[in-house]
Amino acid sequence: MGNIVEVINVSKNYGDIKAVENISFNVKEGEFYSLLGPSGCGKTTILRILGGFIEQDSGKVIIDGKDMKGISPNRRNTSMVFQDLALFPHMNVRENIIYGLRKRKTRPAAIDKKFKRIVDTLGLSGFGKRPVSALSGGQRQRVALARSLIIEPEILLLDEPLASLDKKLRIAMQDELKKIQRKIGTTFLYVTHDQGEALTMSDTIAVMNEGKIIQTGSPDYIYDYPDNIFTADFIGAGNFIPLSSVNNNGQFLSIRAEKGGEFRSASRIPHSKSLSVPVFFIRPEKIKIGSNNPENSNIFTGTVIASVFEGPDIRFEVDSLELGILRIEIKNDGTPPGINKSGKITFYWSYKDGMVLFR
Ligand SMILES: Nc1ncnc2c1ncn2[C@@H]1O[C@H](COP(=O)(O)OP(=O)(O)O)[C@@H](O)[C@H]1O
Ligand SMILES: [Mg+2]
Repeated sequence: MGNIVEVINVSKNYGDIKAVENISFNVKEGEFYSLLGPSGCGKTTILRILGGFIEQDSGKVIIDGKDMKGISPNRRNTSMVFQDLALFPHMNVRENIIYGLRKRKTRPAAIDKKFKRIVDTLGLSGFGKRPVSALSGGQRQRVALARSLIIEPEILLLDEPLASLDKKLRIAMQDELKKIQRKIGTTFLYVTHDQGEALTMSDTIAVMNEGKIIQTGSPDYIYDYPDNIFTADFIGAGNFIPLSSVNNNGQFLSIRAEKGGEFRSASRIPHSKSLSVPVFFIRPEKIKIGSNNPENSNIFTGTVIASVFEGPDIRFEVDSLELGILRIEIKNDGTPPGINKSGKITFYWSYKDGMVLFR
């Protein structure tokens, strides 16, 4: 599969604000590609540049092998779903959905056929005559999607399309969006600040901060191997243990925490980073409770200072004198997690889990 979108060294300033700074990435045909980052990091600016609504100051956007410089939005094979949906309130569902085809002067018979197909796909059959004001949030969402998809764009640009929905509906729509994307095979370029949303739906995630892409990869790769503190912190939960030294003695790293604890890690440290301040990063679910620690694991003790029951999981906050305060998460498998009355616990993690990251 080839790259349908190539963004090459694109920058965009608003006065003194560097909204997008020298960004490059490629999207493959049929991919669900997400730009994930906090508010203000430049996500919408990139989508607007791709859709042709604004022009970059420098760099290139190639779609389908063609340089998009000077090409207006309606002459690009893209369609955008805006954050606020922007449905026409005075039109009914059908009129909203077929708006783009009308503008393109599509023949009525073809409009009927395409309309039927898209409402069937999106579960909107029978809603055609309804005013959009009489729809639920989820239905409005699907109308906005139908309106963008009916013109059969090669690339659908979606700007936080689920942000206005309540949590339950948002999660239901995440599953649905992914299913729709698989079914129709259109390339999705999806923008969100919600890490859970990006992790569930995407084939590839580009993590952004302050106008730059700082890591790209599949959801599981980015979750398991964040290569910087921002990504590790932004995606999922984690422990960051400040370190005073890291030594590479061949097979393992020998690590000393600021609080004095000594342990080993099978991770690597990049040479170029060896002068900046290191922390050890480990996910809460990688730390196990118990003293039957297997070979090649680090074992410590601590005191439980809080425990939170979350149904399928139980989360502990543990104060360990040698490491600091850690978050530990275990599966609720019905057995008590081996904590005595005084709250003292022994816990361990494997050398292969966790990694040294740098500030
Ligand atoms: N039209 C504009 N004029 C001035 N500054 C803007 C404009 N649009 C966006 N910005 C600024 O550019 C930065 C990136 O904005 P944006 O792309 O909207 O971020 P995001 O979508 O990730 O929240 C922000 O600092 C924002 O305030
Ligand atoms: Mg935005």
